[in-house]
Amino acid sequence: MSEQFDVIVIGGGPGGYVAAIRAAQLGMNVACVDEWKNSKGGPALGGTCTNVGCIPSKALLQSSEHFDHAGHHFAEHGISVSGLSLDVTRMVARKDTVVKQNNDGIAYLFKKNKVSFFHGRASFVKAVNSTDGGGYEIKVIGAAEEALAGKQIIVATGSSARALPGTPFDEDMILSNDGALRIGAVPKKLGLIGSGVIGLEMGSVWRRLGAEVTVLEALPIFLGAVDEQIAKEAHKAFVKQGLKIELGVSVGDINKSKKGVSVAWTNAKGDPQALEVDKLIVSIGRVPNTVGLNAEAVGLQLDERGAIVVDDQCRTSLAGVWAVGDVVRGPMLAHKAEEEGVAVAERMAGQHGHVNFNTIPWVIYTNPEIAWVGQTEQQLKAAGRAYKAGTFPFLANGRARALGDTTGMVKMLADAATDEILGVHIVGPMASELIAECVVAMEFRASSEDIARICHAHPSLSEATKEAALAVDKRTLNF
Ligand code: NAI
Repeated sequence: MSEQFDVIVIGGGPGGYVAAIRAAQLGMNVACVDEWKNSKGGPALGGTCTNVGCIPSKALLQSSEHFDHAGHHFAEHGISVSGLSLDVTRMVARKDTVVKQNNDGIAYLFKKNKVSFFHGRASFVKAVNSTDGGGYEIKVIGAAEEALAGKQIIVATGSSARALPGTPFDEDMILSNDGALRIGAVPKKLGLIGSGVIGLEMGSVWRRLGAEVTVLEALPIFLGAVDEQIAKEAHKAFVKQGLKIELGVSVGDINKSKKGVSVAWTNAKGDPQALEVDKLIVSIGRVPNTVGLNAEAVGLQLDERGAIVVDDQCRTSLAGVWAVGDVVRGPMLAHKAEEEGVAVAERMAGQHGHVNFNTIPWVIYTNPEIAWVGQTEQQLKAAGRAYKAGTFPFLANGRARALGDTTGMVKMLADAATDEILGVHIVGPMASELIAECVVAMEFRASSEDIARICHAHPSLSEATKEAALAVDKRTLNF
């Protein structure tokens, strides 16, 4: 006899665990199944984000930033450091502790909200006849095999790193995001394929710790999805820091030897090149996790990428089956998955859960950080929309000067006629935090004048946002 639930959530990452908690808050009897194992074989809730993504990468970014500051920036503050050294094992152990605190936090939240947790791999068995209560039978394979039945199912199985054809990850020399967070000693030479979000974040960490980093990117432009002016500013900053970025490349054979990894590639002009590195991180995008779900047993529709087909409300092709996060269309971002998870739980409860896909913020946690919301200047041009643009450099912001971090700018784009904010793009210190104000503004359909008229604390980095809003009307006060 299967254990019965109102809702079974498959996957305990940001999409799944948040959906499970919200459904439980709304009075449903909820189970969440997740197979992630910690180093001792126990559960490790939180998915890619918590275990091998957002959280551990930020822990290492912080550590590497401290090291960089101590080595390169303390002196200008009159602080001298001698005998500076690096203990990568300890740095990685601290990162693991941060991860564990987050894993345990989610387990605690499940208990608090009475979500039943099953540690193992879930797959569809069959649809249950409506005369027997309807819903779906789910098999969980963990330490033992268990049978569950849920009236409704939320699939939140996430995504995995995409490997280059013929070059599988060994997580020793050829690394995905997972192995990139577990390198035991600073590699002398590090190669990166793909200058996307993961490539730049990981490249920043290991460069700051002393690695010579080369990034090979297929596209002829740097950070194609980012506003061009912001991407150019970021490119300038990364190159100045010593990151080697090759654009428009074509990657050929990759061979491993005892000495390291050799990558044959051709540059934008078509000239053959060779890159010899100790470690190679491949960050060329991710693929949805649907293998092993036994979707075919119930006729769950997948697209040609293997993603679950959903409508804009996260309903799949099957009644009572929903899917959220990286396993469906849209950006692979933890906070997008969370919003979808909450909205689905609320729809199940008869409420009107809603996700505004136009105001999902993006952040790249490099130094300088890059963050944006809404449309880029190139998108507005392509759409033929009349707009006004205002920029303000951190160089003219008092707090940024005091911080000693004046790279970058805030750029605001507003409709030429109505002044409604259409996009805000930031490269610079704490861009990840500054973007929140802009998301709120866009969610409430604010005009650039609204931001310009709001009192911003002095001295703060947020004054740069206000000044960018003033710049839209060509009346900055401090530049
Ligand atoms: P990505 O989609 O951000 O970037 C992949 C890059 O690799 C692209 O620039 C692409 O042109 C390039 N590329 C693809 N094939 C290539 C080839 N054969 N040779 C050279 N270059 C090639 O993918 P990434 O960095 O792997 O990240 C995956 C996902 O994880 C992204 O969708 C991202 O949203 C998410 N993520 C988000 C983070 C954040 O929000 N801060 C942090 C880390 C990941």
